[in-house]
Amino acid sequence: MALAGTGVFSETLEGDVYNYYADGEWKKSSSGNSVAIINPTTRMTQYKVQGCSREEVNKVMNSAKSAQKLWAKTPLWKRAELLHKAAAILKEHKAPIAECLVKEIAKPAKDAVTEVVRSGDLISYCAEEGVRVLGEGKFLVSDSFPGNERTKYCLTSKVYFTTYLPPATLQVTIHIIVCLIPLGVILAIPPFNYPVNLAVSKIAPALIAGNSIVLKPPTQGAVSALHMVHCFHLAGFPKGLINCVTGKGSEIGDFLTMHPGVNCISFTGGDTGIAISKKANMVPLQMELGGKDACIVLEDADLDLVAANIIKGGFSYSGQRCTAVKVVLVMESVADALVEKVNAKVANLSVGPPENDSDITPVVSESSANFIEGLVLDAKEKGATFCQEYKREGNLIWPLLLDNVRPDMRIAWEEPFGPVLPVIRINSVEEGINHCNASNFGLQGCVFTKDVNKAILISDAMETGTVQINSAPARGPDHFPFQGIKDSGIGSQGITNSINMMTRVKTTVINLPSPSYTMG
Ligand code: G3H
Repeated sequence: MALAGTGVFSETLEGDVYNYYADGEWKKSSSGNSVAIINPTTRMTQYKVQGCSREEVNKVMNSAKSAQKLWAKTPLWKRAELLHKAAAILKEHKAPIAECLVKEIAKPAKDAVTEVVRSGDLISYCAEEGVRVLGEGKFLVSDSFPGNERTKYCLTSKVYFTTYLPPATLQVTIHIIVCLIPLGVILAIPPFNYPVNLAVSKIAPALIAGNSIVLKPPTQGAVSALHMVHCFHLAGFPKGLINCVTGKGSEIGDFLTMHPGVNCISFTGGDTGIAISKKANMVPLQMELGGKDACIVLEDADLDLVAANIIKGGFSYSGQRCTAVKVVLVMESVADALVEKVNAKVANLSVGPPENDSDITPVVSESSANFIEGLVLDAKEKGATFCQEYKREGNLIWPLLLDNVRPDMRIAWEEPFGPVLPVIRINSVEEGINHCNASNFGLQGCVFTKDVNKAILISDAMETGTVQINSAPARGPDHFPFQGIKDSGIGSQGITNSINMMTRVKTTVINLPSPSYTMG
């Protein structure tokens, strides 16, 4: 078993098992259980992490709760300072963390480094944005609303008022205080495909807004996530503020998501999120649950641009992105030309291990590869045109474009999360929009045309959280709003939206004496 525990990160190891992180310390689970992380390329155990018990989860929740109370009173500039420090440490550790990503989730080597650097940038941006957004205030007077005297002033601030103001001052200056206050303990559950970036996209907004964190990383990606948490540890955040529990979903999954100590759940992943949202305990939810992002191609589109974006959007990280292009809906009159261009580019994709920085690497698990194969065989049986020969070795699946896919095929609707892309030929734009809108998903979509007016009308008609015009779907830049509708999610992400989502409004009203009151 290879270990990533080199240098300072080795303090997180207990024998050959990575410790979990609670109350500012790296701990061995008293359960005696560990969970194996299988390298998707070698299909051998790469790492092991602790299998935390429910008792340990209870303790973590308690320490997160106590730490949050003090943190909420920590000045914004101090919170931001620590986040900037964590971002810098994370970037310093990009090589060993990227190595974990390569080994745990078979992310191509360069993309793995990009994920870590992007995460450091996200944390820094979040610190800056938090200082601005949470530092803003507003002043309202009551006689601006019909029927009111000037007897109430409303000062809105986005942080706790922690300073005691003597009554005399209050009567003059503050009559209604509206605060956006932290929610408390945020349960962050990122997915395997971005175990670092989609963890910090939850952690950083939560922290700048004054919350504490309990992170449950995915099993594949848990060591990368622990390494990232270690960077926050080195930055010197207070004990208990950030915690990371590892273990089997069957043991602690529901226990965590239904835990009474949790005040908000931010989840990115598959349809487990739908089950979580049904069971969640009346807490605010932020969910991103995948998509079937459609790429609608009109007759006047620049087909070279479309082909390049289909390759980038459909096949980067072997299609294992929620924002991957997952169905191409192309006008029949340009379909042959487009398919030819895409096929030429598919032929140039390198296939192999992530260490070689191959374009197409093994998918995350054997069960995932089996699922993709099921979709491919279904399409074959129902008569789809295979533009390439279907080829699989272990978890490695060669890139495959399926032409002439029809709506009766599973792959027209289900997301393979792999390097297999269906093409549906359409005879009208409406047919494309209808297919997109008939999906259970509504994350992103894209439209290619030179006619901006048409593009905007199509964007308006597509029932998705985002539509990209003349580019493949993508979440980034990370400060852009990011949201899905229907089975693709709840709420909006992006740095500012996450900061706002992880706070709540609290109003305190102070009333003036009636207008007839005289001071003399
Ligand atoms: O897999 C889901 C991610 O949110 C997609 O992010 O568009 O940056 O690859 P991305």
